[in-house]
Amino acid sequence: MSFLKKIVKLIFHRTLNNFVINFFIIKFKLEKVIYKFSNPYLKFSVQNNKSIQENAGYSLRPEIDEVLIKSKLDLQTYSKNYLSEGASILDIGCGPGMYLSLFQNSNLQLFATDLNADMIEYSKRHIPNCKYYQGSFLDIEFLETYNFVYCIGVLVYIPLSDIKKFIQKLYSILKPNSILYLNYPHAISLFDYLYNDLTYIQYAPQRVEEWLEPYFTIIKHEHAFDGRKVETYDKQPYKSLNPNTTRTYKNSYLLIAQKK
Ligand SMILES: C[S@@+](CC[C@H](N)C(=O)[O-])C[C@H]1O[C@@H](n2cnc3c(N)ncnc32)[C@H](O)[C@@H]1O
Repeated sequence: MSFLKKIVKLIFHRTLNNFVINFFIIKFKLEKVIYKFSNPYLKFSVQNNKSIQENAGYSLRPEIDEVLIKSKLDLQTYSKNYLSEGASILDIGCGPGMYLSLFQNSNLQLFATDLNADMIEYSKRHIPNCKYYQGSFLDIEFLETYNFVYCIGVLVYIPLSDIKKFIQKLYSILKPNSILYLNYPHAISLFDYLYNDLTYIQYAPQRVEEWLEPYFTIIKHEHAFDGRKVETYDKQPYKSLNPNTTRTYKNSYLLIAQKK
C-alpha cells in the first residue's frame, strides 16, 4: 500500500473513531455518507469454502456457538408462542439464511430481505420456499404485512439519522398487535454510548427502548445471553476470546415488542 493510501486510511479510521468529531457528523446528519462506504455488506461476496455461520458474520468458536444455540432457541420459542399455522414471518437482514432455515419445514409463510444480493442468492439456494426482497430495508416497498418480524445483527448498520425511519418502517409492515423481535450488539463502553464508531453502532438499550416506546409495547428487553438489564452501556461485557477482534456477539441485547 502506498504511503499516501496509508495516510488516508489512518485519517479515515481515526475520524470515524472519535466521538468529538462524530458529534458534529451526527449533528449535521452526515453519517449516511459514512455508511455508503463503511457498510461491509454493500460489497460483500459469499465465500463458498466457508460455513453458513461464517458467511453470516459469526466466527466458528465454541463461545459463539453457545450464543447462537441460545438465540436460535429463543427465536423458535417466541415465534411459536405468537404464531399460528399459516402466519407470515419476515427476516430483516437475513444474510445467508442461517436463522431462516429454522422455519424451513414449518407451515409459516416465509419472507426475507437483505441489502446484499449474494446473501440472497445463497439463501435462496437452500431455502427456496421464501419470498425475497433485495435492497436496503429502509427503501424496500413491501407488498405484504407480517405477523412476526425479526431482525438479528443488523441494527449496528442503521445510521442514527435513519433510526426513526427504521422504527416507523417496522411499525408499518407489521399487522395490528403483531410481534417485533430484535437482537442487536449493544453498547459495551462509554465510547460506544458516545457514538465513537459510526461504522458499527452499538446502541444503548435505554435509547432503543425510548425510540420504540411510542410505537410498541415492550414485552421483554434484556441481555440476550444472560438476561441482565443494561441501560446506558454494559459495565460487565464479555471479553472476546478471538485474538483478531475485540467484539463478540455474546454482547447482544434482545427485544420483544408488540405493535401498539
Ligand atoms: C451480521 S449479518 C447478520 C445476518 C443474519 N441476520 C444472521 O444473524 O445470521 C448482517 C446482515 O445485515 C444485512 N444488512 C445490513 N444493512 C442492511 C440494510 N440496511 N437493509 C437490509 N439488510 C442489511 C447485511 O447484508 C448482512 O447480511
